[in-house]
Amino acid sequence: MEVIVCRTADEVAEVAAAKVARVCRDVGPGVVIGVATGSSPVALYESLAQRVKDGRLDMSKASAFALDEYVGLPPGHPESYAEVIRQTVTEPLRMTPALVHTPNGFAENIEQAALDYEQAIVDAGGVDVQILGIGSNGHIGFNEPTSSLASRTRIKTLTATTRQDNARFFDSIDDVPHHCLTQGLGTIMDAHEVVLVAQGVHKADAIAALVEGPVTARWPGSVLQLHAHATVVVDLAAASKLELRDYYVQTYAEKPSWQRFDAR
Ligand code: F6R
Repeated sequence: MEVIVCRTADEVAEVAAAKVARVCRDVGPGVVIGVATGSSPVALYESLAQRVKDGRLDMSKASAFALDEYVGLPPGHPESYAEVIRQTVTEPLRMTPALVHTPNGFAENIEQAALDYEQAIVDAGGVDVQILGIGSNGHIGFNEPTSSLASRTRIKTLTATTRQDNARFFDSIDDVPHHCLTQGLGTIMDAHEVVLVAQGVHKADAIAALVEGPVTARWPGSVLQLHAHATVVVDLAAASKLELRDYYVQTYAEKPSWQRFDAR
C-alpha cells in the first residue's frame, strides 16, 4: 500500500487525479474507472475534468461503474447516486452516458439487479482503477462494519452513523434511505488499482485502522491491505492518527523519479 500524506485537501485532489489520469492514459481510450460519490472525490473529479477540457485526457470511450446506489430513490431523484454521478463525473469528464453505470436501486428485484451489476463489470473487462472515499466508520462503498471481506454486490442496511453523515445532502434525516445496493469488498478488491482519498480529522480513525490496524471486517477499509496496488492519499488532518506518518512522508519525498505518476 502506498500512503501519500499531502499538506492540503487541494493537494490530495491533484495527486490522486494525477494517479488516476496516469492509469487512464496507460490503459487507453477504453479504460474502465470505478467511481465513488460523496464529498471526498469531488475535487479529484474537477481536476480530471480540467485535463479533459485542456485536451490532456479523453474519456469519451471510457466506461464507469459507480460503487453504490440508495435503494428506493426513483430515477432522477437529485440525491440518487445516478444523478450525482451524472453531474460530477459523466458531464464534466465528457463521458458517454450509456457507458456510465450505477446499480439499479429502484429495481423490483434487487437481488437480480445486484447480479446484473456484477455481470456488467465482468462484461466490461473489470475495473482498471477504482476511486474510493471512506466513511468515518471505515466503510468503503457502503460496506458497513462487519461486511464480509469477500462480499459481492448486494443490498446493505446503512448504519445510523452513515445516515447521519449523509443527512447533509437531504432535507431531513428522515429522508435518507435505510438501504443501499453496493459493490462488495470482494468486488472492489478485483479492481486492478485502487486510489482512496480522505480529508479531515473526522476520517483520522478510519484511515489509521485502514493503513495500520489489523485486517478486520470491523473496519472494512482495512481489506485494502491485501490489495496489490492500493494508493491512499490523505491530508494532514486525516493522517493525524497514523503512527508511521513520518515514514510515509519520507517515502513519497524519496520516490524515484521514474516511479512518479507524472513521469510521463
Ligand atoms: C460513496 C461511497 C462512500 C463514501 C463515504 C465517504 O459512493 O462509496 O463510501 O465514499 O461515505 O463519504 P464522503 O466523501 O461524503 O465523506
